[in-house]
Amino acid sequence: MRATDVLFRPFRIGTMTLPNRIVMAPMTRSFAVDGSPVAAHADYYRRRAEGGVGLILSEGTVIDRPASRNDPGVPFFHGDAALAGWKGVIDAVHAGGGKMGPQLWHTGALKSFQTEWVPDAPVESPSGLEAPGSERGRAMSDADIADTIAAFARAASEAQHLGFDTIELHGAHGYLLDQFFWAATNRRTDRYGGASIGQRTRFAAEVVAAIRASVGPDFPIILRVSQWKVQDFTTRLADTPDRMADWLLPLVEAGVDVLHCSQRRFWQPEFPDIDGEHGLNFAGWAKKLTGAATISVGSVGLAEDFMGAFGGESSTTARLDNLIERMERDEFDLIAVGRALIGDPAWTEKVRMGNSSALKGFDAAALAQLE
Ligand SMILES: Cc1cc2nc3c(=O)[nH]c(=O)nc-3n(C[C@H](O)[C@H](O)[C@H](O)COP(=O)(O)O)c2cc1C
Repeated sequence: MRATDVLFRPFRIGTMTLPNRIVMAPMTRSFAVDGSPVAAHADYYRRRAEGGVGLILSEGTVIDRPASRNDPGVPFFHGDAALAGWKGVIDAVHAGGGKMGPQLWHTGALKSFQTEWVPDAPVESPSGLEAPGSERGRAMSDADIADTIAAFARAASEAQHLGFDTIELHGAHGYLLDQFFWAATNRRTDRYGGASIGQRTRFAAEVVAAIRASVGPDFPIILRVSQWKVQDFTTRLADTPDRMADWLLPLVEAGVDVLHCSQRRFWQPEFPDIDGEHGLNFAGWAKKLTGAATISVGSVGLAEDFMGAFGGESSTTARLDNLIERMERDEFDLIAVGRALIGDPAWTEKVRMGNSSALKGFDAAALAQLE
């Protein structure tokens, strides 16, 4: 027995059985050519599949709306050329023995922190706000909302037809779905706004329900959520377990199987006033309150959190003991790993073999290539 064996138990979600608990976190790499993934993408993801990752989540890939992306290197998940590129990716991942879902995304009013590029159609969001008090683009009409919901459902259905094993919906970090959740960027007075987090969840719940209707009852749906936003690291959508339940339960009822609970450091307790400094993290509370399976994430195997990576910051390694203890308690079901897998496609296999001295830190220079 190795301590890390607990990470290598299989896990089943609907029709999908994963060989272990390690998930590759979705990471934008900005290497798409005219919105399409190319051969280098297929090789990049296949290498992580061959390295033993249980489930790969793609970089954010955008739905069919005129201004759904904020960076020209972000791939589309619509149109024949891009979908042919994605078919190459999923076939390569399957050939490498892996499982994969695309992360379906709409960036809403949030700018990229890597480029000044702007789409040639008006930027859209719940209330025309990028951040509290900061106007950008326009507020979505009822017709925009209905078309956006339909576009998410079409993308999920395309993913299923291409042979992907699941989809992840990006509802975190201050992008479109999160702009609806957040009172500071959702000032609407119609059915998609409101004073409570439960009211502001309606848009995302309708997206989930439309996806569920298009993919059928058994295809796994993952939803990524976060308290923190790129616009504000300290803000929280739910500062009590009751509010967290108001936020997440309608989403699970609408059809989410797995909540991917994004933190920048997975070991941080969500409500320390209730269960102490070593209490449940976000994924732990989300699992307890909703009964859904959860994925945790944030600085696994690394000492520094990921926001510095965009400014060229690297990170040294950190031990996996805390992760192993939490996994032994089944605090959450799966753990996502980001930067450690960019630097080392074989990270999972090294962990499985107990070869911790071979684990490398994260070198930010690795972001310059898709390897
Ligand atoms: C280069 C880079 C790109 C990222 N792009 C996305 C993205 O497209 N979608 C998303 O939900 N999170 C994105 N993230 C956040 C990661 O999914 C993950 O939550 C974060 O890196 C923390 O995990 P880590 O500490 O293991 O790297 C990105 C992170 C990095 C470093």
